[in-house]
Amino acid sequence: MARAQNRFVCQACGSVHSKWAGRCDACGEWNTIAEEVTDGPAHAGSLAAKAGSGRVLSLESLAGASDPPPRLATGLQEFDRVCGGGLVPGTAFLIGGDPGIGKSTLLLQLSARLSATGDRVAYISGEEAIDQIRLRARRLGLDQAPVALAAATTVRDILATLDGSDPPARHLIIDSIQTMWSDALEAAPGTVSQVRACAQELIAFCKRRSMTLFLVGHVTKEGQLAGPRVLEHMVDTVLHFEGERTHHFRILRTVKNRFGPTDEIGVFEMTEAGLTEVANPSEMFLGERSGAVPGAAIFAGMEGSRPVVVEIQALVAPTPFGTPRRSVIGWDTSRLAMILAVLDTRCALTLGGSDIYLNVAGGLKISEPAADLAVAAALVSSHQGIALPRQAVVFGEISLSGEVRAVVHAAQRLKEAKKLGFTEAWTPPLKRGDRAQHKNTPDPSLTVETVDVIQALVEHISQLPPPR
Ligand code: TYD
Ligand code: MG
Repeated sequence: MARAQNRFVCQACGSVHSKWAGRCDACGEWNTIAEEVTDGPAHAGSLAAKAGSGRVLSLESLAGASDPPPRLATGLQEFDRVCGGGLVPGTAFLIGGDPGIGKSTLLLQLSARLSATGDRVAYISGEEAIDQIRLRARRLGLDQAPVALAAATTVRDILATLDGSDPPARHLIIDSIQTMWSDALEAAPGTVSQVRACAQELIAFCKRRSMTLFLVGHVTKEGQLAGPRVLEHMVDTVLHFEGERTHHFRILRTVKNRFGPTDEIGVFEMTEAGLTEVANPSEMFLGERSGAVPGAAIFAGMEGSRPVVVEIQALVAPTPFGTPRRSVIGWDTSRLAMILAVLDTRCALTLGGSDIYLNVAGGLKISEPAADLAVAAALVSSHQGIALPRQAVVFGEISLSGEVRAVVHAAQRLKEAKKLGFTEAWTPPLKRGDRAQHKNTPDPSLTVETVDVIQALVEHISQLPPPR
């Protein structure tokens, strides 16, 4: 018989070790390995012996008629957008985000919208008492929504309740998966084994009934709670809810989606009355725009299928200390280092010895290399003390050789800029398709200024009229 055996599991990445160690070899995190009780190793031999008694599967061909999955509009358009155009019944979602970012608020609002479609929604909180949730619902003006509420942490109880509920629930919200506990395991709630076991039970239950499942997952830097990374493989769709705590804007981003595209974003604003949807993010982000000051460049970006125009602010200042400071919000630090190196090598513009602060306005996180040219423009503008024209947008990817490369969806970026009243765009040489599309648009009010190498950018900025 299998002997109960303890194993050591990294709480950050879920890898299993034979003995305890201070650092996980697999992910390199410190102090994340914890001891967990298991039921002993599976007998490989007995599994092989059973292979002969398996059920014979019918193998199918690739060709065949399968309808696209039906989609349910949740009533929260920004949420539907990140799902790929509405909910596919039976989807298991994982919604991750920092504590306090607004996950519970979002899901409570979503449950109210879903319950308005006539579907029964069960909202199970393992974190807050019923009264707390009621208070929040009242604050959001949702206290009359027919959402079925419970404060519980035992998966067996939750499933037993849902099994007998009449009418049956169509959507289940679990806030959060780290607080759930399955009695099939001895491990403590929040450990990787518990999180995995609870998620497995909940997902299997919901799949059998074609119920949508929303699991809230915490992300902590310390890795004290099981990072939801082990869960990402188990669910169909992973959404990240992000934003700066100091800003009102919240962005829901698709990281994985079995039923739609990834990298779509939904934009919300956190207000006194909860999250409100932002249909036109560019307008909102540009609302944060500074005046005509050196160091501000407007980037025409794309987030998924949606163009987003946003300001990038840079400040290049002399270093009061020996080591220059780098502070980057909303962009990649190593990408900044690359651009500084290119400016240094190709344009003899040495910024490396200065303090550099770089900020994407509104708390948006940009991961597109297309922002390179706008970042470079903001840096050069701040360094030279010359403001960029306020009616110009900038985009383009910078290569190590200093060339400015074409980026995807150039025509769409130009269209959005035009719509917002910009009259000038600094872009890499446009691809043929984009060029044609741009020419065909009837409104000629946007001048395209081609920047093919980074030297041309620096030259162009130095020729701008100096500040008055
Ligand atoms: P919450 O949904 O509890 O975050 P999470 O579940 O991700 O931990 O939201 C927490 C923050 O949102 C809290 O700091 C207060 C703020 N908030 C508002 O600003 N307006 C509101 O209407 C609500 C409900 C919350
Ligand atoms: Mg919460």
